[in-house]
Amino acid sequence: MHIRNAIVAGTALVQTAVAASVQAKNVIYIVPDGYGPASQNMARDLASLIETGTTGSNPEIHELAVDDLAIGRVRTHSANNMITDSAASGTAFASAHKSYNGAISVTPDGSPVGSILEAAKLGGMKTGLVSTTSITDATPAVYAAHVANRGSQPLIAEQMLGLSHPLGPVVDLLLGGGRCNFVPSTTSGSCRSDDLNLLDWAEEEGWSVSTNRDEFNTLKKGLGRTQLPILGLFAQGSMRYEMDRKVEQDEPSLLEMGQTAINALHRATRKGRKGYFLMIEAARIDHAGHASDPANHAIETWMYNDLIAWVRKWIDQHPDTILLSAADHETGGLTLNGYDPLPLQNATHSAEYIQNLWNSDAPADAAARRSFLIDTILPASGLSGLSDAEIDTILDASSVSTAIASILSSRAGVDWSTGGHTSVDITLHGYAAGRKRRNLKADLAGGWDNTELPRYVEDVLGLDMDAVTRKLVKAAGEDDAWLGKRDLVGRDLEHEHEHWH
Ligand SMILES: *[C@@H]1O[C@H](CO)[C@@H](O)[C@H](O)[C@H]1NC(C)=O
Ligand SMILES: [Zn+2]
Repeated sequence: MHIRNAIVAGTALVQTAVAASVQAKNVIYIVPDGYGPASQNMARDLASLIETGTTGSNPEIHELAVDDLAIGRVRTHSANNMITDSAASGTAFASAHKSYNGAISVTPDGSPVGSILEAAKLGGMKTGLVSTTSITDATPAVYAAHVANRGSQPLIAEQMLGLSHPLGPVVDLLLGGGRCNFVPSTTSGSCRSDDLNLLDWAEEEGWSVSTNRDEFNTLKKGLGRTQLPILGLFAQGSMRYEMDRKVEQDEPSLLEMGQTAINALHRATRKGRKGYFLMIEAARIDHAGHASDPANHAIETWMYNDLIAWVRKWIDQHPDTILLSAADHETGGLTLNGYDPLPLQNATHSAEYIQNLWNSDAPADAAARRSFLIDTILPASGLSGLSDAEIDTILDASSVSTAIASILSSRAGVDWSTGGHTSVDITLHGYAAGRKRRNLKADLAGGWDNTELPRYVEDVLGLDMDAVTRKLVKAAGEDDAWLGKRDLVGRDLEHEHEHWH
């Protein structure tokens, strides 16, 4: 049991206690990045419409998997801002310390802090990270890297594979996007400025590397012959939004990657006493929120619920495993104001896809441009029956996709109060099988600071994060170049975070 003192709002001293009455072999933590309370309503009503065909004042409500898993709520402010970014919030959840926006598991004075995943690895467990965006982006990075600036993704990639991590490789499975940080600068689309080829290096070190859908298929959802460690990087940057992916089908889905990770980690640990810690990020709920892209935000949220549904069933069959799930922050200031999902029903592509299509294919001639908008772009957005004035507004807008998303939002009764994050508390969800579920709920009922949650997981798994911190601080020692502090020089993280997810 941990009893700690937390300074809240700078003045009041509040004593908090996180005591785990639950013990488990495995913990799965799912982060729906940028998911707020309204995201769930929005997804549920759209799912109900699509599955039951009813909407309006008398809908047949189709419950989603997360709906009855709410346990508590979580405060998310960072060390330097009421509104957090994913790096500061991730550092709080992964490593139990408040830090500044942009920090990857380092404290405000730049000192590394051990994560729950690193503690799990040092405690003999297996570990995994999965994300639908770059695996080196903030939410996964905080578990297996320590750098001053979240923008240092090439450095994060090196640490995640163990190349420059003082504790060696701490992750056994990495699945997601962000390949550009692993390939040398000579490769087209690379995000590196050196000629390090981390894919080759990983293969030499014994990682099974896959970089496309066909190679992913050979993993057979984690039930094939492939052994850990597994590295799968299926896009240069973010992976496709689910709506776009359904049409293009060249990348695995969030659910497929989650299943693969759980099966592979389970198979590697089932015979022993030690289990696994796995973090899965549904990253692009946040991106669709930044884009004020309503159908996309709802569908990404629905896919998160589909993953949770599968994990719930898994846990019913594997009661030595518990699930926790909480967003890092809300995105978009989303409000449902007379919401009706009907206008979102026919959308088949994200605003991002639509904008790319417009940029590459829209003809220069005005009449042909208008026809291209009406015949190709609008059907993909799901909008129909627009007035001539609305079409003129879209054609005159600086961003066609933003104008379309705005009309779609207003038709559906969806308001976005910001293109960034908000400081609204987020919901904590949890699941365990049988009697454990009641204990988990009793343990976590109430309101928590985001730094308190990993202390709970630490208790559940019997781990020691502070011991990892001591090792890291010792390793940081004289030569702390690996912490990437040079990447902070001349940067104003306080304001830069506004451009970050
Ligand atoms: C969706 O598409 C169907 C079939 O084309 C059409 O009948 C319906 O009116 C469309 N719904 C909306 C809200 O545009
Ligand atoms: Zn964001």
